[in-house]
This record gives sequence, C-alpha cells and structure tokens, in this order.
Amino acid sequence: MTQSITIRRPDDWHLHLRDGAMLAGIAPETARHFARAIIMPNLVPPVVTGSDAAAYRERILAAIPEGADFTPLMTLYLTEDTDADDLAAAHTSGLIKAVKLYPAGATTNSHSGVTNFDKVRPVLEKMAEIGCPLCVHGEVTDPAVDIFDREAVFIDRVLDPIRKATPDLRVIMEHITTKNGADYVREGGDNIGATITTHHLIINRNHILVGGIKPHYYCLPVAKREEHRLALRQAATSGDASFFLGTDSAPHADAAKESACGCAGCFTATNTMSLLAHVFEEDGALDKLEAFASLNGPKFYGLPANESTLTLTKTDAPVDFPNKIETGAGPVTVFDPGFPVFWTAD
Ligand code: DOR
Ligand code: ZN
Repeated sequence: MTQSITIRRPDDWHLHLRDGAMLAGIAPETARHFARAIIMPNLVPPVVTGSDAAAYRERILAAIPEGADFTPLMTLYLTEDTDADDLAAAHTSGLIKAVKLYPAGATTNSHSGVTNFDKVRPVLEKMAEIGCPLCVHGEVTDPAVDIFDREAVFIDRVLDPIRKATPDLRVIMEHITTKNGADYVREGGDNIGATITTHHLIINRNHILVGGIKPHYYCLPVAKREEHRLALRQAATSGDASFFLGTDSAPHADAAKESACGCAGCFTATNTMSLLAHVFEEDGALDKLEAFASLNGPKFYGLPANESTLTLTKTDAPVDFPNKIETGAGPVTVFDPGFPVFWTAD
C-alpha cells in the first residue's frame, strides 16, 4: 500500500539564496517545493536599505525558473547605522517582512552587524511600533564564551534584555540549537517564535567530529549534544505554534567548505522535505509536519497559509538525491543525512 501525505505547500522561514552565479544555480532547488522564503540579507555588501532589498528581490525573481510559483520575502540587515524611517517605509510598502540582527562577527558576512545593542534601540522601538518582526542570530561573540555555550549565553545577556526593554517587538529566534532555546521560546508568549533547521533535527556534534572532521556538517550555530537535538525534535514535532521550519540552507562552493578554514553552512534545499518526512515519521508525528512546515510560520508572520499543496510519498527503494548541485560558482554538496530516505516530495 502506498503511504502518502498531502500538506499545504511549505515555506522556508530562513534561507540563504546568495547572489550572481550561486543564486542562479541554487534558486531552483528551493522553488521546487517551497512557495515562499524569508531571504537572508548577508550578502557582500549586505542588504541594508529598502532600495538594496528591492534590487535584490528583482535579481532573485530573475533566477526563479519560468513557471515556478515562488515568492521571496525580503529582509534588511540591521546595522548600527540603519535608518528607522527607511526601514519603516520598506515594511509599510510590503517590500520587507522582517529585519535581521547579526551580532557582529557571529557568522558568515556578519561584520557589519551589531556590536553595541544600545545603538539599535530606537530602531527596535520603531519596529515594535509598526509590527516589523526581528529575526535574530542568537549567539554571543565574546571570545571567552565557549562556542557550544554561545546560544544559551545570548538568551541571558542579549535576547532577554532586548525583549524586556521592548516587549511589543516580535522576535524570531533563528535556527535554535539548544534545549535552552526551545524552552525559552515555548515559555515566551506570543511575541516570540523560533525557526528550526532540518539538519539540527538530524545531526549532533558527534556527527561533525567523530571519525574525521565533516566540513559539510559544520554550520552556525554549531550542532550541540544529543540531548539538545532531542529537545529540538520534540519542539518541531509537537505541533506547538511557536516552532516552524527555517532551513538555513546556506550554500558554499565545495572549495570553501573543504578547506583549512571552512565556511559554516549546510545546504539542504534539495532534500529538506523528504528528510523532514523521515524525521516526523520516525517520531510518530507525520500529522504534525504540516503545522511545522506550512502553518505555524505564516501564522507567526501574519500571512495566509498557502492554498497549493505538496505530496510526500513513501517509496520502496531509497531516494537517490544528487550529491552535488553544479553552479556557475562551483559545485555545492547537498546535505547527506547519513541514512537512507524513503520519501519523495512533489
Ligand atoms: O551556518 C551558517 N551559514 N550559519 C549562518 O548563520 C550563516 C550561514 C551562511 O550565510 O553561510
Ligand atoms: Zn542563516
């Protein structure tokens, strides 16, 4: 008997599409299954103004294959010089759906991010007033804090103070990797949500380091201990409306990953929906997949769920995903979950 489930078409609430030849090469991978995605602004140079976002949006639309039904949801990159009026105009016109906070130095192309959080306080107040959500990369950059503790410390030192000072600000804690993050969001009321990536539901830190270093499993925030992965699985498969899919699919050419100083990022756009079907089936929660991938995100962002659908079908033989996507910027390795997957998506 064929097992299949049909869900409303999913959205990706945290995605890196890059620019130029990389954008052209990888955009079709997301547009195949997803209706919308929140597009990260960490280009070089970053997307900081409304006019930057409008121009980037056009470049993305040009890279989407003919006939694909995909809408990029644009964001601005918050800097200490962000102009609150420009931001408000971009939000009011519908051009941007959120603003992204990178602590300076936390991750790829984050050097223009925020060092002194007091400097962005007026912008955050404005965002709370107009209902523009803040997407947060939740890691401190203090060299004294161990990389595996950076998310938990960020909650106490940065995120909670911001939320207490600006309680009306709607915040998305992006790509949570810890039980601390899941607990904070679950108990945080209606103004906070969290995205969870596909890869953090599958790998823990052993997968990166045991038996040889695996550069394609290195991302930021870095995967943590198994107990944290299990807490993320519980959060994602619970159906709790605070948690929704943000793949953080982050392509880097293989040469930049397989290097003495490899870039952070897992590329999961190609096989994410099949992997999620596997994960949710394994946890006896296939009935919660639609909430996680297609309903909770739009609800948090105040957007309608998609009317179109995606069908996930169980196969007899393992699905053969491509190992790499060839792009004009070099080959990009597709995330390998390390186990066979028996679900197709279309
Ligand atoms: O692993 C990551 N890759 N984490 C981030 O926060 C940024 C991203 C990227 O842009 O490559
Ligand atoms: Zn990201």
